[in-house]
Amino acid sequence: MMAVWLSFVVIIGAAVLADGAFTAVLAQNAANQSLIEKAFPHSTKCKRCHERVYEEWETSPMAKSIHSPAFRASLDMYLNSTMGKDKAVCFRCHAPHVREFSDHAQLFVDQAKAGDPSLDGVACSQCHLIKSLDLAKHPPEPKYEIGSKTLYGPYGDFVQNLAHQSMELSLFQKSDLCLNCHQSVPSATNLGKANDLLGNWDQSRAVKSGKECQTCHMPQQVGESANGEKKRTIANHTFPSRIGKLRQEAAKLDVQTKIDGDKTTVMVKVQSLVPHNLPATHPAWATVVLNLDIKGKNLKTVFTDKRVYGRTYLDAQGQKTVFDFEAAKVAEDTVLKPKETREETFTFPTPKDTKTFDVEVALNYAPLNGPASFLQRVEAESSQGSQDPVFQPIEIVKRTENVPVGK
Ligand code: HEC
Ligand code: HEC
Ligand code: HEC
Ligand code: HEC
Ligand code: HEC
Repeated sequence: MMAVWLSFVVIIGAAVLADGAFTAVLAQNAANQSLIEKAFPHSTKCKRCHERVYEEWETSPMAKSIHSPAFRASLDMYLNSTMGKDKAVCFRCHAPHVREFSDHAQLFVDQAKAGDPSLDGVACSQCHLIKSLDLAKHPPEPKYEIGSKTLYGPYGDFVQNLAHQSMELSLFQKSDLCLNCHQSVPSATNLGKANDLLGNWDQSRAVKSGKECQTCHMPQQVGESANGEKKRTIANHTFPSRIGKLRQEAAKLDVQTKIDGDKTTVMVKVQSLVPHNLPATHPAWATVVLNLDIKGKNLKTVFTDKRVYGRTYLDAQGQKTVFDFEAAKVAEDTVLKPKETREETFTFPTPKDTKTFDVEVALNYAPLNGPASFLQRVEAESSQGSQDPVFQPIEIVKRTENVPVGK
């Protein structure tokens, strides 16, 4: 009886102690977070005066760069891998202020894992405190000036304000600003040239005619840069891409169907209009797919097929992997190169018992791709389960043709 009592006391004592330690950790985390946010003011601080910019940015994928179930699941895969010792790797692009706080990488991990991080990912300060780029590095690396009250941007003729100093930097209108996070696979440096995510984009007509990433992904408009200031040229901060109107300028499809007795052949020309690779970043799990559906009698699907545009990596053991952090080699590269036209041929039995059939061809951003264990993990992490948006395709362009079978 006595012994039971004792252990009971011991257990309660341990619980109180653990609780105390836990509180101390929380206090330490809060202190570290405020240290970080002193250097990189939180985006909500900017919202007060830059409401329009904030509201645009808030709808962009960048505002959710450390929030998604797919991010939590893949971060976990990374941390549990042999590469996972450097905890900052993913955040170098997904929350780049980790560069200045590498001792606190665990705080970034904890916040991302909690699912509702209060730390910013790719937000206002993370771009507007970039003072210069180290162009000797490939890709160019941002240099921050910690403790500065100056925010850098595109205007030389800025209006003064009470919250910060402003300074014009021409690099805000240059692609270089974006390359650090968009040009190459994070850790797979031994991939050499295959590490390149944008392709020969600097040889494209777009670049030669003076277009920068911002021209298409931060299109100019006219409006207020800060609340109540006079209207001028401003840049759209929704970063249109997978979401938004820009998608309509991504690709063209040309479809030709030839019936030869029992056999039908569909030839599809996929013409990319994009001046860089498509898909771009993480091309192994975030692929683009061409889906073909043949609908015969009563519009019932009688044949389907697809072509996948992306990359397959091999890890150090020669096993296939979708994770770029495990990649030692590229096994297959079917990414659509800048402005490439790809011809695909599909052959199938001519649909029977019908006068016509439908040929449906669609180019989509594919649902998340990867091993079942990874997909299940994402599903478990998401409050929407298998309905999570990453499991839905996003349509880029679609063509439907009705083909007469003839006698
Ligand atoms: C600090 C790293 C970083 C920099 C610098 C950066 N980006 Fe990004 N960008 C990201 C990350 C991370 C995402 C993905 C966010 C997510 O979905 O989790 C992203 C997403 C995007 C998307 C959306 C892609 C989609 O699938 O819809 C576009 C467009 C984009 N960035 C364009 C730009 C442009 C243009 C610049 C330069 C002005 C730029 N980025 C600079 C990290 C960066
Ligand atoms: C070199 C910069 C860079 C690094 C390093 C990086 N990412 Fe990304 N990541 C991006 C960009 C840019 C996008 C947006 C791609 C797009 O939409 O085209 C993105 C998108 C994603 C997405 C899909 C969008 C989302 O948030 O659900 C996931 C998941 C993701 N990254 C996970 C990771 C993980 C895990 C790591 C670390 C192993 C990592 N990334 C390292 C640049 C990077
Ligand atoms: C991925 C980097 C990136 C992020 C994140 C970002 N900006 Fe910008 N911002 C830019 C670039 C690049 C320009 C200049 C674009 C141009 O002139 O073509 C710009 C322009 C501006 C301008 C001047 C023109 C305008 O559009 O009003 C303001 C003000 C501004 N940003 C504030 C913010 C605020 C506030 C946030 C957060 C809510 C934010 N930015 C997030 C890159 C970024
Ligand atoms: C007290 C109001 C206020 C706050 C808070 C504020 N700004 Fe500004 N900001 C302004 C005003 C006013 C301008 C000048 C706008 C103009 O010239 O049209 C400006 C200009 C800018 C510019 C353009 C600078 C240039 O020279 O191109 C950037 C970038 C910017 N702010 C970013 C931010 C960011 C990031 C934050 C949050 C960390 C922030 N601002 C917080 C009022 C504010
Ligand atoms: C001439 C216009 C143009 C320029 C310049 C341009 N892009 Fe794109 N970009 C597109 C189009 C079109 C798409 C595909 C349609 C879409 O997703 O909206 C796209 C797609 C993307 C995507 C999403 C692709 C994916 O796989 O998820 C990212 C990220 C991106 N661009 C980044 C960049 C960066 C970084 C630069 C500068 C190096 C750049 N773009 C320059 C037109 C452009």
